[in-house]
Amino acid sequence: MPLETRVVRLLSRMTLAEKIGQMSQFNGDAGDLHQAVKDGRAGSVINEVDVEKVNYLQHLAVEESRLGIPLLIGRDVIHGFKTVFPIPLGQAASWNPEVLTEGARISALEASAAGVNWTFAPMVDITRDPRWGRIAECLGEDPYLCSVLATALVDGYQGNDLSANGSIAACAKHFAGYGASESGRDYNTTNIPEIELRNVYLPPFKAAAEAGVATFMTSFSDLNGIPASGNGFLLKHVLRNEWKFNGFVVSDWESIRQLSIHGLTADDRESAFEAANAGLDMEMVSTTYVQHLESLLEEGRISEQQIDEMVANILRVKFQLGLFEKPYTEVNAFPAIANRDYLQAARHAALQSCVLLKNDRQVLPVSLEHPNSIAVIGPLADEPREQLGTWVFDGDPQCSHTCLQAITAMAGDRATVRYCKGLENSRSKNHGGFAEAIEIAEQSDIVILIAGEEAILSGEAHCRANIDLPGHQEQLIEAIAAIGKPIVLVVLAGRPLTLENIVNKVDAILYAWHPGTMGGPAIAELLFGVEVPSGKLPVTFPRMVGQIPIYYAHKNTGKPPSAESFVHIDDICANAPQTSLGMNAMHLDAGFTPLFPFGYGLSYSRFSYENISRSVDRIGLGESITIRADLINAGDYEAEEVAQLYVRDLVGNVTRPVRELKGFQKIRLKPGQRKTVSFEIHTDDLAFYNRNMQFGAEPGLFHAWVGGSSEATLRTEFTISG
Ligand code: NOJ
Repeated sequence: MPLETRVVRLLSRMTLAEKIGQMSQFNGDAGDLHQAVKDGRAGSVINEVDVEKVNYLQHLAVEESRLGIPLLIGRDVIHGFKTVFPIPLGQAASWNPEVLTEGARISALEASAAGVNWTFAPMVDITRDPRWGRIAECLGEDPYLCSVLATALVDGYQGNDLSANGSIAACAKHFAGYGASESGRDYNTTNIPEIELRNVYLPPFKAAAEAGVATFMTSFSDLNGIPASGNGFLLKHVLRNEWKFNGFVVSDWESIRQLSIHGLTADDRESAFEAANAGLDMEMVSTTYVQHLESLLEEGRISEQQIDEMVANILRVKFQLGLFEKPYTEVNAFPAIANRDYLQAARHAALQSCVLLKNDRQVLPVSLEHPNSIAVIGPLADEPREQLGTWVFDGDPQCSHTCLQAITAMAGDRATVRYCKGLENSRSKNHGGFAEAIEIAEQSDIVILIAGEEAILSGEAHCRANIDLPGHQEQLIEAIAAIGKPIVLVVLAGRPLTLENIVNKVDAILYAWHPGTMGGPAIAELLFGVEVPSGKLPVTFPRMVGQIPIYYAHKNTGKPPSAESFVHIDDICANAPQTSLGMNAMHLDAGFTPLFPFGYGLSYSRFSYENISRSVDRIGLGESITIRADLINAGDYEAEEVAQLYVRDLVGNVTRPVRELKGFQKIRLKPGQRKTVSFEIHTDDLAFYNRNMQFGAEPGLFHAWVGGSSEATLRTEFTISG
């Protein structure tokens, strides 16, 4: 029977209470959960991962409720279930969609074995603010990169067939604009002009919808005065009318009830009205729908047709998941959790995610060829739990392999490894451990310092106003730097940290994010040159917090800064006249450049780009052009490089960013090998919303760069004819 017929038939048999039940999600520990399921008052349960309990709940739903509608079992499977992959921001640094798809696939398999059939991932919020704790969960600052990776994650969770064993429904969240929370403070207000919303924040959601994501989640935040959970512009106009989305939308945790706290409504009843009227299909945990939809219907403020549409959206996903045919979970139908293959995939993901930010005098890779002694120092060197990062409800620290364990194993009897923490944890200001750290550094040939942030310092509601290394880690680095031994700094963190104060005190920096279960072996293999770093930054690293927001795809302004005109605050002469300082868009103390730009990341090899060319000089609207450049591995290691294409539309109906990423490819080359990299761009890829909110590419001149970061200099140009 066709899907829509099944939905309509079932709907026609439902009472109003059963319909509202489908629109309600219960927390797994709700007191009356069993009775609610039997009564048909629950459509979904969040946070129950004991497979026997899940099967029992499904039994109550399928065999003891009147209509036998199975439950959606939702869980935050964000970057792994038992096997934990790098935090999403780290995975984004791989610039390798296959890595994300594989991680999501494994996460879905492990979660399915626990009875979970719906994950609240991927988070596809664009953010340009590393103070925001949830930057850890997102895929970076760029709409194009985030869109490609969002698609990869949806593919991984859902597979080709949602009803297949091990496929779970994905959820694009948080719709929309959450990443623009003012001052990087979670849940804060967002004000995003529609043009920026459409050109920057919405594209990854649209990509997820086009990839077939089954569900969307609304954001907690207020968007231009209308909190997302009551925002009909987002939910009806954009999502349903423009994008033709036919899955369902869930609120965030109690975010319908919070509409009155925002001040959009006076009470729960009005909140239920605003949310339902905006088209929010399912309420997470709060109960405004259960309490008020029926009377809103009786009063004629909400129509039965509106309710039927919302319930149909939910039922459609349940049918697509195959839950009516197969409501129960058979644990034996799935591979063992955290098995060797899964751990191997987690190791590979961590390897691909690490970004080499600095490597003076080729201090990396560390050689084990000759007798050597290594000091491993730092509060995060041997912390199985901290390396997992945020949102790991089900992650098992006992499966973690730490940096210290892996470095010690790899050194074997070829090198002496001495270890001390130096600081009790990343926030500690107690210098009690410094003396031992200095002592072992003095006894060793090289120091590997493993610092950063504990897991609790990023994630939901864990924002920071100062994003330097916390505690006295900078002082620890300074104390060790004073000895004069080579120092490799490995950073484990949930966000870009401001490293300006210590960047010149260490010889190399490997940025590993929170790398997950297999972070230790991956980092050790990179440090010792078994593997070569290949990650690139998915987000700009500021020098200091006052530069935020700082991102590569900024506008030019009428007074763009330049190195020639920049004057540092310390170089201003006394009594300088007001107009003597270049008069351009810069900070006197921070300049105008980031510490590390978007797309940046070093290798142990050396890659260069030559011979940029274009297939034609001119294209018409609706046509394509190919941009080519030669990529050369001019170094000594077989390694991977992410070749990136950036484009600038020089003149627009509205001003356009100075560069926009339009393509990338991760390519492995042997030493001396050369490859021509080709990027085809269609004029649709150059389309944007203009001042009349019309979407399209415009005729005119374009610049195109190919290179290894957003600061690529190899340039060509082409024209779109009018
Ligand atoms: C709140 C978070 O904002 C959201 O991302 C998450 O999925 C839900 N809680 C459910 O835990």
